[in-house]
Amino acid sequence: ISYQSLLNATNRFSFDNLIGVGSFGSVYKGTLDQYRHAVAIKVLKLGRHGASKSFKVECEVLRNTRHRNLVQLLTACSSIDNQGHDFKALVYEFLGNGNLDVWLHPTPRTNDALEKPRKLSFLQRLNIAIDVASALDYLHYHCETPIVHCDLKPSNVLLDDEMVGHVSDFGLARFHHDIIQDSSTNQLSSIGIRGTIGYTPPEYGMGNEVSIYGDVYSYGILLLEMFTRKRPTDNMFHDNLSLRDFVKETLLEQIIDIIDPAVLGERQKGERRMNDTCNGNRNGSFKIHECLILILGIGVACSTEILRERKNISAVVVELLSIRQNFLGTNIHTTQTEFK
Ligand SMILES: *[C@@H]1O[C@H](CO)[C@@H](O)[C@H](O)[C@H]1NC(C)=O
Ligand SMILES: *[C@@H]1O[C@H](CO)[C@@H](O)[C@H](O)[C@H]1NC(C)=O
Ligand SMILES: *[C@@H]1O[C@H](CO)[C@@H](O)[C@H](O)[C@H]1NC(C)=O
Ligand SMILES: *[C@@H]1O[C@H](CO)[C@@H](O)[C@H](O)[C@H]1NC(C)=O
Ligand SMILES: *[C@@H]1O[C@H](CO)[C@@H](O)[C@H](O)[C@H]1NC(C)=O
Repeated sequence: ISYQSLLNATNRFSFDNLIGVGSFGSVYKGTLDQYRHAVAIKVLKLGRHGASKSFKVECEVLRNTRHRNLVQLLTACSSIDNQGHDFKALVYEFLGNGNLDVWLHPTPRTNDALEKPRKLSFLQRLNIAIDVASALDYLHYHCETPIVHCDLKPSNVLLDDEMVGHVSDFGLARFHHDIIQDSSTNQLSSIGIRGTIGYTPPEYGMGNEVSIYGDVYSYGILLLEMFTRKRPTDNMFHDNLSLRDFVKETLLEQIIDIIDPAVLGERQKGERRMNDTCNGNRNGSFKIHECLILILGIGVACSTEILRERKNISAVVVELLSIRQNFLGTNIHTTQTEFK
């Protein structure tokens, strides 16, 4: 698409059309004649180191993928602007409900702008968690070459009008040719992979190879954040207490205190626990706690520092679907329950 069309589509990249600013560029909302719905236009900051590469990678990834839980790339622009400078932009479908980060951590200002409180129910959170896991499952196991996202975090999960989650921002993604077989000898560099503090797995900081299990770590943190509403970078966390430790040691114990010990007695017995803990004639909030234990347990298992002990994302999808099914199975009337 031409620079002129984008200029026109965004009212000359006006401030009023600006909807976000990321590390590699600014995102504008716009309308283009050829698309029925509004579009989001990410204009790359080409001066920024890595921006040009991120443009290429993102085009490459999104050209080769198609999934309901990934943002859809509509077109791209690689041209020069009116001053004769290089200009690159990516055009996506516009998703009406912003990003997950804003929903998890609303500020008075963002609430005002929407004029409706941003609160996610337990079920909405679970649905979005499943959406994100499904997107990763697709990227890791169902593409021609496995794709590692490398920068999964709430602000990179966009929500459409139906609150379906779409993973976005593939600027740091890597096509992965030989998955983790021996990450100790084969030190394909993760140098340059910065990701985002709090979500990047510890092995990337030690120069280890980028792998799909790195995404699983980020996913685990995201899941814990979604259900605790605590950022991994919250002030309360430090060297000796991470978000994961907090959930593992503090929160899970407290929840365990309030649920039926008989339920917990079954927890070692593998498969059966799903039915035992999520079924039954229990009422809404009580049942949410039971499901929460399972969900947080998944988050904890995904975010272990030891790469080989992490779950694979396919298994996560299966477990989350099962939790949802059990939750819905006996609890239709409580599905709107506010969950804080
Ligand atoms: C500019 O945008 C308007 C609507 O936003 C559209 O009607 C018009 O056709 C566009 N012009 C060009 C040259 O693309
Ligand atoms: C962290 O733990 C170590 C040993 O367990 C201790 O020496 C250190 O003081 C602790 N630091 C903080 C900030 O709690
Ligand atoms: C849960 O219970 C149903 C029937 O009660 C059974 O068909 C299903 O296999 C059980 N699921 C698990 C994970 O044990
Ligand atoms: C609902 O759950 C609470 C515990 O949260 C329990 O005390 C109460 O008896 C339950 N009510 C029914 C009808 O099961
Ligand atoms: C994922 O883990 C599950 C359970 O451990 C296992 O059955 C499955 O084969 C694994 N899938 C992949 C693609 O590694």
